[in-house]
Amino acid sequence: MQPASLLQEIAEEIRGCTRCPLARARTQTVPGEGNPISDVLLVGEGPGAREDATGRPFVGPAGQLLEELLASIGWERRDVFIANIVKCRPPGNRDPEPEEIAACRPYLERQEAALDPALIVTLGRHSLQRYLPGARISSVHGQLRRQGGWHVFPMYHPAAALHQASLRETLFADMRGLPAALLAAREAIDAERTESVQAISPDPAPPAPTAETDDAEQMTLF
Ligand code: URA
Repeated sequence: MQPASLLQEIAEEIRGCTRCPLARARTQTVPGEGNPISDVLLVGEGPGAREDATGRPFVGPAGQLLEELLASIGWERRDVFIANIVKCRPPGNRDPEPEEIAACRPYLERQEAALDPALIVTLGRHSLQRYLPGARISSVHGQLRRQGGWHVFPMYHPAAALHQASLRETLFADMRGLPAALLAAREAIDAERTESVQAISPDPAPPAPTAETDDAEQMTLF
């Protein structure tokens, strides 16, 4: 099945989800949205009030800053896929509970598998813990990491910069490193694929000479 159909199927399941108590308080689920063939998956924490009202991720004040950050490197929302650790709003924007994160995790895992992104950008500490358990955001932000089969680029959550103005510069500086991180991730993936193809293929037999190659050799000889 194509990524777009898979992501659609997952979104439909999320819309009917009752796996955790967040289902009772939500207005709408927020499954995620974006380009189904993007190489970049952005993972936030969980929907806020505006996301809960609209069913779309990052459409409130943090989303506005996220769009500015993307625009600063010439990207738009439609260049990436945006999802969250939990798909329903924790009441009052509290942190999601570990059981809520665990209940929602299979949806995120299926989104990851459907998209198979070259790079996962974590936004905030809950997302960071999903991909780099135990890492501290202050130590790893803006650095490309390889973990659990994914290339991960941790960033502060845009909402953090709304509360702490000094983080704004850090976010924009980290964002400037994103295109190079994506390039490095793609190159590493290509190199791994080439290695694994070489590992499973026997040495190729030398090509049988054809009239053309004979001619070419003779031309070289003369
Ligand atoms: N914050 C998040 O982590 N996700 C959203 O979708 C919106 C705000």
